[in-house]
Amino acid sequence: SAQTSAALGIPDPAVIAHRGDSFNAPESTRPAYLLARDLGADYLELDLQRTRDGHLVALHDNTLQRTTNVAEVFPDRADAPVSQFTLAELKQLDAGSWFNTAYPDRARPGFKGLKIMTLDEIRDIAEGGSNHPGLYIETKVPTLFPGIEKDLKQYLQAHDWIGPQAGTQPAGESNGAVNVAYTPSRVILQTFEKPSLEALQQQMPNVPKILLLWGGEGSIPLEQSAPQGTDETDADYYARQKVASKADYGEWLSYAKDHGAIGVGPSTIQSEHDGDFSRQFSYSELAAPWMIDMAHEHHLLVHAYTVDQPADLETYRQHGVDGFFTNRPTVALKTFDRA
Ligand code: G3P
Ligand code: CA
Repeated sequence: SAQTSAALGIPDPAVIAHRGDSFNAPESTRPAYLLARDLGADYLELDLQRTRDGHLVALHDNTLQRTTNVAEVFPDRADAPVSQFTLAELKQLDAGSWFNTAYPDRARPGFKGLKIMTLDEIRDIAEGGSNHPGLYIETKVPTLFPGIEKDLKQYLQAHDWIGPQAGTQPAGESNGAVNVAYTPSRVILQTFEKPSLEALQQQMPNVPKILLLWGGEGSIPLEQSAPQGTDETDADYYARQKVASKADYGEWLSYAKDHGAIGVGPSTIQSEHDGDFSRQFSYSELAAPWMIDMAHEHHLLVHAYTVDQPADLETYRQHGVDGFFTNRPTVALKTFDRA
């Protein structure tokens, strides 16, 4: 809700540039983050991984095939996880040309040869320019990167993005909505993984955290229509079955709340449109109106992913969503009269 966002110093609605402006430039590269920053996005979103020699880098996939020419440069290790490459090796890869091939209408010669970026380079971008976006950092598959939460804390403290108090429990008491002693923060931490949420909470109890939610596709057959005589819509009924097939939404919310999250990041049904790479995944709707209401009843914010279409942004906003991960920050900022 607006009150909770304000107490935490989080814009309402928050516009979170998903892997940068990843519609107009190759995801997680310099131009994608520069565009997002200069457009006025509130946060630069990134997926954190760690190289073999301990550097923190931003890349979504655990392997390099989709977004780089790893097969040409390291043919013997084309399928190897990011964690098996040194930073110097990763920096040899072209992380931009794939975009020109995939999206010829948005291709640019300058995208050829773009590099995988470190957290340090993205922080530097966030600190440059005049808009000063925050960083919205995801720890993904923490089993691949034991201790990455502590590495992240040390990095953020060393660069004054979080204070020395980040490692201590907020002293003030909660007003029910949010612990008012939270330091309004330009960093938000996010993860799908319960062990990582717990590690983030242990390392940085004073930094806002979001538990991401993904239902996957249930294996049980689902009914398309709500039973007659109920006042639940077909869409809500369908969504509820999907959730029930994976986990109970209320349990997710209670878990998030009990483990220090200030909100949840649910998936949304994606709209069909050209060039949205996230179409390759099949998302469940975890931001149906009843789910948003339930999250708010738990005093949790809702930052939904990944929403690119004006009509979707408007609808989810009307339903109470507090922030949006978007591949198209320009579209989101315009939709919310911020551009
Ligand atoms: O971090 C929110 C959203 O990015 C989660 O999905 O797979 O794009 O990281 P993914
Ligand atoms: Ca992410």
